[in-house]
Amino acid sequence: MIKQKKIVAISGSIREGSSNTNILKAAAAFIPQDIEYIIYDGIKDLPHFNPDVDRMKPEDVVTNFRKIIDESDALIICTPEYAKGVPGVLKNALEWLVSSAELYKKPVAVITASPSILGGDKAHESLMYTLGMMDATVVKNGSLLFPTVRTKFNDDATVKDESTKQELIALINSLVDEINN
Ligand SMILES: Cc1cc2nc3c(=O)[nH]c(=O)nc-3n(C[C@H](O)[C@H](O)[C@H](O)COP(=O)(O)O)c2cc1C
Repeated sequence: MIKQKKIVAISGSIREGSSNTNILKAAAAFIPQDIEYIIYDGIKDLPHFNPDVDRMKPEDVVTNFRKIIDESDALIICTPEYAKGVPGVLKNALEWLVSSAELYKKPVAVITASPSILGGDKAHESLMYTLGMMDATVVKNGSLLFPTVRTKFNDDATVKDESTKQELIALINSLVDEINN
């Protein structure tokens, strides 16, 4: 039996009503039906990364997180920028995956979204460095910035305009092509 492919999405914002989580919910409409798509909302429960604990036995929440990422075929990360960088909660989650290497060669798509006109460019750049260090595969056309995000998505996780929709579809298609080939 052919195993169903799975895409895991992670929002860099744990805020109720997050525009980044809203984008990941909007993306669900464009994921092919034969691919499982889950938005993992557990990064808020991970302890602070500590190399001492990493070398011993980390808590179950860390082990479960690693397993979910390991069993995924691809990842979509959608994050805001905080203080010109990646939100600590997301960076912390990624640090738990460094030594265990679940992101090694994992196809990844990266979105940053911001109410500003810069689209979270500094967080985007920083996240790309981190993923590069972890040897994740950011897929071709798998990188998007959504500036002025509040003009592009409705609160009910639908896209407001055709060009935003096409950008999101192109990103998802790149990821799907990568995992299907
Ligand atoms: C502490 C803090 C720092 C922020 N720093 C930035 C920033 O450096 N660049 C930026 O574009 N937006 C910044 N913002 C605004 C966020 O982009 C905005 O709050 C966004 O809606 C957060 O994403 P979310 O809606 O997914 O929670 C900051 C917001 C907070 C609360």
